[in-house]
Amino acid sequence: MRTYLVTGGAGFIGSNYIHYMFKKYDNDIRIINVDALTYAGNLENLKDVENRDNYTFIKSYICDKVAICQIFAENDIDRVVHFAAESHVDRSIAEPEVFVRTNVLGTAVMLNCARAAWELPDGSYRKDKKFLHVSTDEVYGSLPEDENAFFYETTPYDPHSPYSASKASSDMLVKAYMDTYKFPANITNCSNNYGPYQFPEKFIPLMINNALQGKKLPVYGDGKNVRDWLYVEDHAKAIDMVQEQGRLFETYNIGGHNEKQNIEILNIILDTLQEMLPDGDPIKANVSSVLINYVSDSKGHDRRYAIAPDKIKAEIGWEPETMFKEGIRKTIRWYFENEQWMKNATSGDYQKYYEEMYKNR
Ligand code: NAD
Ligand code: TYD
Repeated sequence: MRTYLVTGGAGFIGSNYIHYMFKKYDNDIRIINVDALTYAGNLENLKDVENRDNYTFIKSYICDKVAICQIFAENDIDRVVHFAAESHVDRSIAEPEVFVRTNVLGTAVMLNCARAAWELPDGSYRKDKKFLHVSTDEVYGSLPEDENAFFYETTPYDPHSPYSASKASSDMLVKAYMDTYKFPANITNCSNNYGPYQFPEKFIPLMINNALQGKKLPVYGDGKNVRDWLYVEDHAKAIDMVQEQGRLFETYNIGGHNEKQNIEILNIILDTLQEMLPDGDPIKANVSSVLINYVSDSKGHDRRYAIAPDKIKAEIGWEPETMFKEGIRKTIRWYFENEQWMKNATSGDYQKYYEEMYKNR
């Protein structure tokens, strides 16, 4: 039975990945989830797996070397899937240091502890041990508005925000471990994800939540920035496929073949909400483009991201499966059915965050 150490499993993608893995492998794997439970970590995301015998949660910061190395010493870890990170660009612009601490130092600690546990005296590694570093397409910078330009694995890094700079640094550390120590790892760089359990600081759940509350919908700049949206379960599947079928030491880009301008996404959300809300529901009358509010642009706002996921398709056979129309319906249905989750996520500190982040826009 393989034992996985998943970091950041209480966050958006990590919790979806854990659900995906238990659905796929059931009792044939064991998962240890290490998460510090920052504002973005939420154990409610894992309620339906928390009582499994083959699941363990450990609350710890990944920068805590003693705690992380102890987890490796006490468990024979076969796979590390490293999600834990500060993940929100806007927050990184307001407060960069914590991004460096978690994303860079935290990754170094994860790499060091894994290496200490897995390396043999001759410098090779214990059989079939693998580390997968989950990263972002934002490390590649911004593409021109030319529909033939894409990010490839060979595209030079050119990060612009403190978030993407910290992720680029963490990628470089993983690359350095692979080069210097032949450390058995892969890196995946994925485009923007959407789906259940996404914290409502991010564009899609923020817009769904605000629209349902009849609140303004803050669109940065001219709304024409382009992101390549991927349904989160497709990402979870890609990570598993890369780790089991990919070539070690390789980077794989993961993308949705689904480039859209922010304003297009918002209009699809509004139309889908209109379709899905029952006639006569008083909320339905509020959900309209009248709520759209163009606000000042973000500092250094990357114009366009788009991945060509050719390598992962050719080598591993992975392709995005969920069409945006279907994925957004599933996502909206999940938020309809999990009103309390959203209420909990948007109480307390979120209100302060929202006021602070949007007051001068
Ligand atoms: P998230 O913010 O929803 O979750 C991050 C998780 O990490 C939270 O549970 C949080 O508690 C935990 N965490 C943060 N700092 C920690 C620390 N110091 N120690 C231990 N745990 C800590 O993020 P997400 O959207 O799920 O992203 C997961 C990973 O995927 C990140 O590495 C991110 O860079 C990458 N990624 C995200 C996207 C996206 O669209 N969300 C796209 C590509 C790549
Ligand atoms: P986001 O979901 O924060 O992801 P990222 O910044 O990592 O791409 O934002 C997606 C896009 O939506 C990005 O171009 C910024 C824009 N955006 C808004 O226009 N308004 C908002 O309130 C938010 C949160 C994002």
